[in-house]
Amino acid sequence: MMLFYKNRSLVNNMLLNANELHYNTFMRVAFVGKGGSGKSTATTLFFLYLVKHKSPVLCIDADLNIHIPNLLGIEFPKERALSDPKNTRAIRKYLKGTSKHIRSIDHFYKTTPPSKGVAFVMLDEKNPIIQQYCVAYRPSAYLAIVGTYEEEEIGRSCYHTNLAIFENLLSFARLNENEWIISDMVAGIDAFSNTLHAQFDLLVLVVEPTKESVDVFTQYYRLAQHADVSNRLVVVGNKIEDEHDEAFLKTNIPDDIFIGGIPKYRSIKIQRQQGLPLTEKILNDIDITIFSTIEKKARALRQDPNDRLKRLYDLHRAYIQQDYVKLASGDLSHQIDPTFHF
Ligand SMILES: Nc1ncnc2c1ncn2[C@@H]1O[C@H](COP(=O)(O)OP(=O)(O)OP(=O)(O)O)[C@@H](O)[C@H]1O
Ligand SMILES: [Mg+2]
Repeated sequence: MMLFYKNRSLVNNMLLNANELHYNTFMRVAFVGKGGSGKSTATTLFFLYLVKHKSPVLCIDADLNIHIPNLLGIEFPKERALSDPKNTRAIRKYLKGTSKHIRSIDHFYKTTPPSKGVAFVMLDEKNPIIQQYCVAYRPSAYLAIVGTYEEEEIGRSCYHTNLAIFENLLSFARLNENEWIISDMVAGIDAFSNTLHAQFDLLVLVVEPTKESVDVFTQYYRLAQHADVSNRLVVVGNKIEDEHDEAFLKTNIPDDIFIGGIPKYRSIKIQRQQGLPLTEKILNDIDITIFSTIEKKARALRQDPNDRLKRLYDLHRAYIQQDYVKLASGDLSHQIDPTFHF
């Protein structure tokens, strides 16, 4: 009898471990690139592609110029923006949970890692973050926005301050195997000045067939190499009109990085000129091969959550060395909890 129980608990433990393995092996994709290259359009089309395939997804519009609600035809109440100071505090209070490693929400920084006792962001309609700060597009398909500058912030704040809560959400996300977080990022190379470059499995750089757009690729690629994430960077061409455009991108971008292109579609142009949203229907009129390529690439590159956590620890250690952090909060190295694992 004893042996039976012993074995049963062994089996239970194995089952538990197997279940645990599924946690946080979800995919995270960020769309980046030059202003106007098509980040928001590509994010929206990929979101619709995932919705069509019934993959649970949280789309986060992390650009200063908020375009995704409009592209999806969603009324997004401004009061739900993640970076609204009231919301940021409430979200951090929730995420802190009962953790003893985060002394108070005033000690919650952009690099603060999860520790024992914290609460998580999960793709569940009952999750407080989903309930209070997201809007459902379909069941299991949600949208959140980071938010833009408020008038009173102009001149005394920078967008990086707004992005910190977005970084927190990514660090405290605990999703399941087939779930996705995708994000439309701010134009340019800002992602490298915070933890964001380390938060995604795949960085999709949207590039138009122009010299300026290719120059952004060159700059981005160098930074990605420097930050040791160049293996996660792929380029998707956009607004491609003919073979010449495609050849131009192929000549300027290495083969293993250029994964395909999105043509310039008259249907998208007309829809948007009329101020109409993009819907799942548009996927019937366009070639979706590139979106299945992005999906496969992200699945192949998805990181073990605990490896990602180690990277966050490194970024946290570097960040808390800064004088202004030390002056405001003292030593924050105890926020790293060696007993915590996803
Ligand atoms: N494949 C496409 N076919 C037709 N029109 C497109 C395509 N991709 C983008 N556009 C159009 O190009 C313009 C810029 O696209 P979009 O807003 O997606 O770029 P963005 O990189 O998000 O810009 P911003 O930096 O301003 O946020 C929009 O008018 C959009 O409708
Ligand atoms: Mg945009």
